[in-house]
Parts: sequence; structure tokens; C-alpha cells
Amino acid sequence: MAREFSTVGVVGLGTMGAGIVEVFARNGIDVVAVEISAPALERGRATLTGSTDRAVAKGKLAEADRDALHERVHFAVGLDALHSVDLVIEAVPEHLDLKQRIFAELDRVCRPEAILATNTSSLSVTEISVATSRPNQVIGIHFFNPAPVMKLVEVVRTVVTAPEVVADVEALCARLGKVDVTINDRAGFIANALLFGYLNHAVGMFESHYATREDIDAAMKLGCGLPMGPLALMDLIGLDTAYEILDTMYRRGGRDRRHAPVPLLKQMVTAGLLGRKSGRGFYTYERPGSPKVVPDEATPLDTESALADGARAITKVGVVGSGTMATGIIEVFAKAGYEVVSVTRGMEKSATVCEAVKTSLNKGVVRGKLAEADRDAALGRVSWSATLDHLADVDLVVEAVVEELSVKKALFASLDEICKPGVVLATTTSSLPVIDVAMATQRPADVVGLHFFNPAPVMPLVEVVRTIRTSPEATATARAVCAALGKTGVVCGDRSGFIVNALLFPYLNDAVKMLEASYSTADDIDHAMKLGCGYPMGPFELLDVVGLDVSLAIQRELYLELREPGFAPAPLLEHLVTAGYLGRKTRRGFRDHSHR
Ligand SMILES: NC(=O)c1ccc[n+]([C@@H]2O[C@H](COP(=O)([O-])OP(=O)(O)OC[C@H]3O[C@@H](n4cnc5c(N)ncnc54)[C@H](O)[C@@H]3O)[C@@H](O)[C@H]2O)c1
Repeated sequence: MAREFSTVGVVGLGTMGAGIVEVFARNGIDVVAVEISAPALERGRATLTGSTDRAVAKGKLAEADRDALHERVHFAVGLDALHSVDLVIEAVPEHLDLKQRIFAELDRVCRPEAILATNTSSLSVTEISVATSRPNQVIGIHFFNPAPVMKLVEVVRTVVTAPEVVADVEALCARLGKVDVTINDRAGFIANALLFGYLNHAVGMFESHYATREDIDAAMKLGCGLPMGPLALMDLIGLDTAYEILDTMYRRGGRDRRHAPVPLLKQMVTAGLLGRKSGRGFYTYERPGSPKVVPDEATPLDTESALADGARAITKVGVVGSGTMATGIIEVFAKAGYEVVSVTRGMEKSATVCEAVKTSLNKGVVRGKLAEADRDAALGRVSWSATLDHLADVDLVVEAVVEELSVKKALFASLDEICKPGVVLATTTSSLPVIDVAMATQRPADVVGLHFFNPAPVMPLVEVVRTIRTSPEATATARAVCAALGKTGVVCGDRSGFIVNALLFPYLNDAVKMLEASYSTADDIDHAMKLGCGYPMGPFELLDVVGLDVSLAIQRELYLELREPGFAPAPLLEHLVTAGYLGRKTRRGFRDHSHR
């Protein structure tokens, strides 16, 4: 029989605590909500009221249920109010000494059988537990932000946590409608261990002006389908909390440099820029605590005027190549009203590409997304050629041939001879340095990267890569073209992985290392990222879709260029590739897909 929890206590009503109170009260459990001072208590109460009012306004909570919810919450200053609760969850700032002090006090105040839980993200639950006389009744219950929304709870057992305490807490999570994963006490548990290296890396990109905050966030949202970009997420987490988590993970997690907080973070915290809770972090918010971003001095000018900034007129576009990307890109340009010259290495190839474009456009017609007349007009705008000479009068060339530097360089040298002056020459490479391709021409200022995502007609993102030689006009032109295609163009520097792959693949590689270390299972890790962070797919699902060989190749590139020890490919990934387990395409990767 699982233990009945009729009253629980929550200590600290900040970003997490206020949300945790709501989770319990919504599920019919009485809550004693405790803060350090009367003003802090009022802030916590206001957060709860604001959140439940929003839920009512959105039709997600009936007014009567909201009122009943509030009646279940008893607010108090000081821990003494917790004398008769069945379980306490602590959610005070991420400092070990503070948490230890609170646990020692809770041990004194609470009934001997009460379970004492911490919501810590990165500190050792074991170290917190030994501040009490009942370490076997101490456990981690790690909720995700925002607690009322995110389905995941990480239940952290230490070596001394009693099995029945773990079972009771697991049953409680189920009653709260949450999905739990139970794991051992390791820095960052599952989700944060995989998340914070990525977040810190994104802050580093912002700090070094590699890309703007808007572009970094748009890249991850649109390129990976994440619910929010990394910098917006940092603001939601709170920069002070994020700093402490990184700092602890760095110290506890083997001094991985990727967890050493980027200096800018410390500066922002010192300056009081804590994110949403203080009204300003990477972005500026309407007021402290508000989720609404308002423009500030770093907000880009409205796209129209920014794009007009030196962008050249483009009407005719050449697309070189006959693979998946070239085919998709031809379709995208033709549908957007551009005249397109497709160049392949032979008329049979052109015929195949033409068929593929037709098939794809027809699918749009069948699905009711494209009128027959528009399909015909789009096809009518494409001319098919097997010689580069037909690119003499285009305004833009998009190269999408095989990913081999020598081939691309030779092609760009030819384009340089054939194309008229002022043409923007773009490569779709996903891993080669754009500058190498640019220097194969006499006009490196006109060369950019246009990194489309697969499938090009569907994916809304394009990375616009500018090299150290790219002119502002060429960049502006590339960005304007993306906008005209209905895509979001994000501008970044010419570094391995650009924005998306540089942030995505090390995270996937880390997930493989976590599996390799037997810390958790592929299923639990996938669950944790989907339910704790709102990712559309877990890392192992995604690796199997992308292909393990492709993932390994990208990870190797990143490692070679950036020399970051933490980017070294996981041995397990290498072994699976060697064994021919490449993912869905070979019916076996991290999972067996043969029966599906
Ligand atoms: N922010 C997140 O996204 C997130 C997610 C999961 C877990 N966590 C963890 O939750 C915990 C709280 O983080 P947060 O982001 O909510 O912090 P926060 O700064 O938003 O809130 C902390 C609250 O604790 C209160 N407090 C401080 N000392 C106290 C005391 N002695 N007694 C009672 N209350 C006290 C503060 O007044 C404040 O309201 C941390 O351990 C953090 O790592 C945070």
C-alpha cells in the first residue's frame, strides 16, 4: 500500500516553488507554502494567482476549481508551519549550504515519518540528505519549468534512500498526472546533464557575436522544432539559477569545460539581469515575471527595412545539383515565383529531378495545399540544362552538389568564369568551410552559405553563412531571398555546424555517452527530453532518423574544428556505425525497427 499524502509543504515560492504548489493543489492535495519573508510570500502568492487566472482565462481551469485550489493552499513565513505535513519539497536557491541548513531545520520541525524532498537541479541529494538525521527519507523530486505544464519528474534516489520512500514518491507522481523517471544521484540527472552544455554553448555564441539572440533562438526552434530557443529558455529558467546549475555541474561533473559558465552569465547576474523574473535577461519583458517580450535597443529593425539594406534584386536563380536538396530547392524557388535554371550533369539526371519536382508539387495539389494552376506555373518557371553556361544571366546561384570540397571548389571556379558580375554565389554545404569555396573564385565578397534543411519545401529555416570576406550586400541579399521564399534566414559565422548542428549534435553525442555509462536507458532519456523539455523527439529517436553515420560524421567535424574534448564522438556511436547499425535506414540503430 502506497503512503497517503494529504498535506505537503513547499519551501521557497520562486520560479519553481510557486508552480509546484499549483501542481499539488490542483490535484486535491493540501499545501503549506512557505517563504522566508512576508514580501517574498506575497510574490509567491501573486505568481500562483497569476498562473491560475491565466489557466481560467484560457479555459483550462473552471473558476470554481481555481477557488477550491486556492483554499487548499495555506501560506506562511518560516519553516515552523510545516510541523504536520507528510512530505516537504524544498525549492530555494541552488546553494548547497542554504539547502543543508534548511534540511537540518526541516528535520527538527517535521514529523519523524515525513519525507523530505529537494527540487535541486544539480546539487548532490546525498550531500543534502546528510544534513538530517533521516537520510533514508530524503529524496530528489525534480520538477520541470513550468511545473504545472511539463509532464516529467525526475525522482532521484541516493544510495541510502529507502526503497519504500522511492515507491511512495513514484505513486505520488502518478497521482499528480506526471511521468517519472527514477535515477541515481548524479550532477544534472538526465535532462539538465544533456541540456546545460547546450544552453551554455548558445550563450557563448551570443557572447562572441556569432549570431544575434533572435537568430540563435529562431534557429533552434525552426531547425529542431524545440518549443523555445536556448536564450529564451535561459530567461525562463533564471540566469542566477542557470549560473549555479552550470557551476555545480562543472565542479561535480568532471570539470567539463562546456559547463564552465560563459563569463557573460556572471556579468548579467551581477547586473541584476536575471531573466523573466527580473523583467530583463537576454530579452526585455513587459514587467518582472511577465512572459511577454517587448522591443529593446537590440531588437532588429522591422525586416522589410533591414532587408532593403543593400539587398540586390533577384529574379532568376540557378540551382546546381540533382540530389534531394537540389530537388527541394528548385521547388521552393519555383513556387515562390522565381525563374529557375536547373543544371545537372546530364539530361537523364535532369529528367529524374524534373519528375521528382513534379511528384512533390502534385502531392501539394492532392493535399489541397497548391492549386493546379500554381503547380503548372511553378513548373513552367523551371528550365532544365546540363551545362553551366546557362547560368550566364542568373542573379543567384545555389550550389547543392556532393559534399566534397574539391568538387565544390572546381564548380565555384567555373561559376566565377561564367556568371555575370554582382551575382550572389551560394553553397548549401552543411559541414565544409564556406571560405574555402569562396576563395576558389575571384569574388569571395559575393559568396555566402545558404544552408537549407531537409526537406527544403517543408523546413522553415535557412542558415545564411557569411565568411570573413562576405560583403554586407551579399548577406542582405541572401536574407531577403529567404524572406521572399517564406523562410526565416538566420545569419551566422562560418564555423563548423553553423548554429543548429553545432548546438544539436554535441547534445545527441552526450546522450549516447550517458547511455554508454549505463546511467539510464534510451527510453528514459528520450522520455526525459520530450516530457521535461518539450522536445518533439528524444535524442535516440532523432539519431535513428538522422542516421548514425551522418551524426558521427558531423560530430567528428565539430570535434576536429573546435578541438573541444567534450565533443569527442562517443565510442558507442562509433561502434554502432562500424557494426552497420545506422538507424531507420538499415532498420536498426539504437532501436530495432525491423518489425515496424
Ligand atoms: N528555474 C528552473 O527552471 C528550475 C527547474 C527545476 C528545478 N530548479 C531548482 O529549483 C530550486 C529553486 O529554483 P528557482 O529557479 O525556483 O529559484 P528562485 O530564485 O526563483 O526562487 C527561490 C525562492 O526561495 C526563497 N527562499 C530563499 N531562502 C529561503 C528560505 N530560507 N526559506 C524559504 N524560502 C527561501 C526565495 O525568496 C525565492 O522566492 C533550485 O534548486 C533550482 O535548481 C529550477
